[in-house]
Amino acid sequence: MKVLVTGGAGFIGSHTVDKLIQEGCQVTVVDDLSTGRRENVNDQAAFVEMDVCSPALFELFAVGQFDGVVHLAAQTLVPVSLDKPDFDCRVNVLGTVNVLEACHRYGVRRVVLASSAAVYGDGVVVPAVEDAHLAPTSFYGLSKLTAEKYLAMYSQVYGLEGVALRYANVYGERQGDGGEGGVVSIFARRMARGDVLTVFGDGNQTRDFVYAGDVANANWLALVTPNISGVFNVGTASETSVNDLAHLLANAAGRPVDIQYGPPRTGDIYRSALDNRLARERLGWQPQVPLAEGLARTWQWMKEREG
Ligand SMILES: NC(=O)c1ccc[n+]([C@@H]2O[C@H](COP(=O)([O-])OP(=O)(O)OC[C@H]3O[C@@H](n4cnc5c(N)ncnc54)[C@H](O)[C@@H]3O)[C@@H](O)[C@H]2O)c1
Repeated sequence: MKVLVTGGAGFIGSHTVDKLIQEGCQVTVVDDLSTGRRENVNDQAAFVEMDVCSPALFELFAVGQFDGVVHLAAQTLVPVSLDKPDFDCRVNVLGTVNVLEACHRYGVRRVVLASSAAVYGDGVVVPAVEDAHLAPTSFYGLSKLTAEKYLAMYSQVYGLEGVALRYANVYGERQGDGGEGGVVSIFARRMARGDVLTVFGDGNQTRDFVYAGDVANANWLALVTPNISGVFNVGTASETSVNDLAHLLANAAGRPVDIQYGPPRTGDIYRSALDNRLARERLGWQPQVPLAEGLARTWQWMKEREG
């Protein structure tokens, strides 16, 4: 199977590329390296440095004849979306439309789109179910929701098989310290450097932390499971407070933790966890890596990297 992974030099993208190659796919990565790294890309994947908004994407699709696309390339930061909504919209909405149009023109069968828990916003019953009321609190959440709707419209109008996965807070090896849900990598990096951890707000805000390898597996299943389309949550359905996360990470690292508290950030959701029954039933997916184990792996990677 020939698969294009946009954003494949990034954190989730590189785990996804590894999984696809392990499953025997022929993988091409498109990435502009704005936050991704060339060295993240598996040696067995072809790499093209390109912006997903570029018209040149069509030539790549014409040559590549891809069966499936996993579209992960995005502007991933809530604060950036609030500072530069036009940039967020360009990459996350227009970039997605460019990818979908190329898929339609060049006969791609299925597209897996990276969406986010950010589409739910605050006030939703936790853990959130897919058909909950959607009220994003940032331009990032809005651009991800808009991308989902474009995917649904391409399915409706052209019969493109579209699967949108709403990831919870993904963590694991190779996570940059800027990305959405990057609190694990930010904390791990600061601990490795012996710095104090900064928590925005009271630290009782909760997140649903899902390991990157489990997300890569969800991307794979979304690509190959027959007769599925629509939206699926990819999370553990359990909440962990940021304060508890800091202590779990300290346990994994065997180091004491020093926390300072700052003001809450605009656009941040207070509670977040994603119900995963639909993905279990329809994709046969479930999270495999418990938080303590995933944090231990992440810490090990960070320690080696930071020296
Ligand atoms: N990390 C999370 O917790 C999380 C949660 C929900 C959704 N997501 C989504 O998952 C996807 C991957 O996120 P990530 O955490 O791996 O972030 P990341 O920043 O590591 O990966 C994004 C990749 O896309 C590339 N990219 C960005 N703009 C591009 C453009 N215009 N053209 C080509 N490439 C471009 C970057 O260079 C990077 O390699 C994103 O769509 C993100 O919104 C992530």
